[in-house]
Amino acid sequence: MAEPRIKLAPSILSADFSRLGEAVAEVTRAGADYIHIDVMDGHFVPNITIGAPVVASLRPHTHLPLDVHLMVDSPERHLEPFAAAGADIITIHAEVCPHLHRALQSIKKLGVRAGVCLNPGTPLAALNEVLPELDLVLLMTVNPGYGGQPFIEPMLDKIARLRRQLDEAGLGAELEVDGGITAEVAPRAARAGARVLVAGAAVFNAEVGPAEALNRIRASVEKL
Ligand code: DX5
Ligand code: ZN
Repeated sequence: MAEPRIKLAPSILSADFSRLGEAVAEVTRAGADYIHIDVMDGHFVPNITIGAPVVASLRPHTHLPLDVHLMVDSPERHLEPFAAAGADIITIHAEVCPHLHRALQSIKKLGVRAGVCLNPGTPLAALNEVLPELDLVLLMTVNPGYGGQPFIEPMLDKIARLRRQLDEAGLGAELEVDGGITAEVAPRAARAGARVLVAGAAVFNAEVGPAEALNRIRASVEKL
C-alpha cells in the first residue's frame, strides 16, 4: 500500500510577529497543509508567545487547519478560548495534564481534533491509555520553548516505535513531529514514520524565503 502523503505544518514561531497574517497567507499559497501555532505561557516553557485573540485574527488569512500547540500549564483552562478563536486541532502536553482523558473529551466536545504532545524525555507509555482517543500525537523532537534548536537524533527511534504501535493497533492518529525539522532531517523523520512535519526556523528564517524553503522540504520527502 502506498504511504500517505507527508503533511507540512510551518510553525509561525519564527515568522515576523508584526506581519503574521502575511506569513500565514504566504505559506498557505506555497502548499502548506496545516498552520502550526505555538502557544507558550512563560510557566511550562520560559517564553510567552501567542494567545487566543491572535489566533482569531489569523483565522481569516488561511483556509488551512490551524494546529494549535498548547505549551501551557493547566491546558484544560484554555481549550474553549482557542476553539472559539478557530483552532481546528488542539494538542496538549501530557506532562501538565493529570486529567488527560477528560481534557481530550473536552477538546472533542468543542468540535476540535484532539492531540497529545510528549516532550523528548517523556516515555511513549504516557499515551497508552488514551491512544484510541487521539486524532493526533505530537512528538517533540527538541525540548519545547524555542525555535531553531537542533533535532534530537534519538527521537528517530521513538518515532519508529510509535509508528509501529499505531500500525499494530490499527489506529489512525496522525504522527506529527516538532522541532529541528529541516530538508535534511525531514526524510529521515518521515522514513521513521512521521506523517506531519512541523518546521519553523527552516521555513521562516530561510535565506531563500518561506515558499522556496517549504518547496525544498516537500521535495526532500517526495524523493522517499
Ligand atoms: C518549539 C515549538 C516548535 C518550534 C519548531 O517549542 O513547539 O513548534 O516552533 O521550530 P523549529 O522548526 O525552528 O525547531
Ligand atoms: Zn510546536
